[in-house]
Amino acid sequence: MAVSHSVPSLPAETRSVRNPQLGPNGSLTHLLTLEGLPAEVIRHILDTAVPFTSISERDVKKVPLLRGTAVFNLFFENSTRTRTTFEIAAKRLSADVINLNIGASSTTKGETLLDTVDNLVAMNADMFVVRHSQAGAPHLIAAHLNRTGRNHVHVVNAGDGRHAHPTQGLLDLFTIRHYKRDFANLTVAIVGDVLHSRVARSLIHGLTTLSTPDLRVIGPQTLLPTAVQSLGVRVFHDMRAGLLGCDVIVMLRLQSERMRGALLPSAGEFFKHYGLTMEKLALAKSDAIVMHPGPMNRGVEIDSAVADGEHAVILPQVTFGIAVRMAVLSILAGN
Ligand code: CP
Repeated sequence: MAVSHSVPSLPAETRSVRNPQLGPNGSLTHLLTLEGLPAEVIRHILDTAVPFTSISERDVKKVPLLRGTAVFNLFFENSTRTRTTFEIAAKRLSADVINLNIGASSTTKGETLLDTVDNLVAMNADMFVVRHSQAGAPHLIAAHLNRTGRNHVHVVNAGDGRHAHPTQGLLDLFTIRHYKRDFANLTVAIVGDVLHSRVARSLIHGLTTLSTPDLRVIGPQTLLPTAVQSLGVRVFHDMRAGLLGCDVIVMLRLQSERMRGALLPSAGEFFKHYGLTMEKLALAKSDAIVMHPGPMNRGVEIDSAVADGEHAVILPQVTFGIAVRMAVLSILAGN
């Protein structure tokens, strides 16, 4: 089977709707992608998340910003971090959270995605958090709601195929800003399977929108999208050269579930050339941070000594994800 290395595009029915995530006055109606999202909207989300980071230190870990709001988690694909942190975020905002058990739902009997959505809207859903293996599924739902005059119901993309994962991109931006203050003068390297990574695509859009001056992708030709330079990145196939002087290193998992055909000789060979070890990390700046969106495959893209070492900020990324998702949900709710 032929392997497509191009940047994925959305189905025609979703492309026809022009930026469906912004309302007529430019306010955020849905969060579908960081591509084309204005810098001031991204900064507003990051700034809104800051006070939410301290909520876990309070006796009462809740605020009433989403009281009476029904948030439906629709995860058609597996998740540990995103689904759980969205649930925590919504509950900390006092929302009612409904986790649809997709495996036990009527989608298994042939009901279409949009029919499922219409039925949940009939149950007074206010927000959908959607993960789907098909690129464009959250856009399709948002466009359907907009077209049918129900844009008071909000959609958040929790990862669609290899297209976008905007809240992961935002929590990655939040983490970088937390440790490095701002994006001016930063050198950021994203390493590994960029081709299949919605995380990489969202982070690249976020970092370029916030004017990060030196953004690099590092990987073998087979795991980089064709014309990836058009996204505003520099390409390195030699990991040692690409890591020189970096402030931030973002490691990516090999996403074998999205690979068609053999793109690598072996996992062992990949680790030899593109796995992050302490020896390669030493080429970056002495205060470099190491990030990973998870799930990690130790010994494939990252050595345990690095994953558990003092440069890693992988678990703080997860914790910041709660605050960032609280910010997104509360902004969508109009708070
Ligand atoms: N980073 C991320 O999306 O992790 P999950 O697949 O566990 O949600």
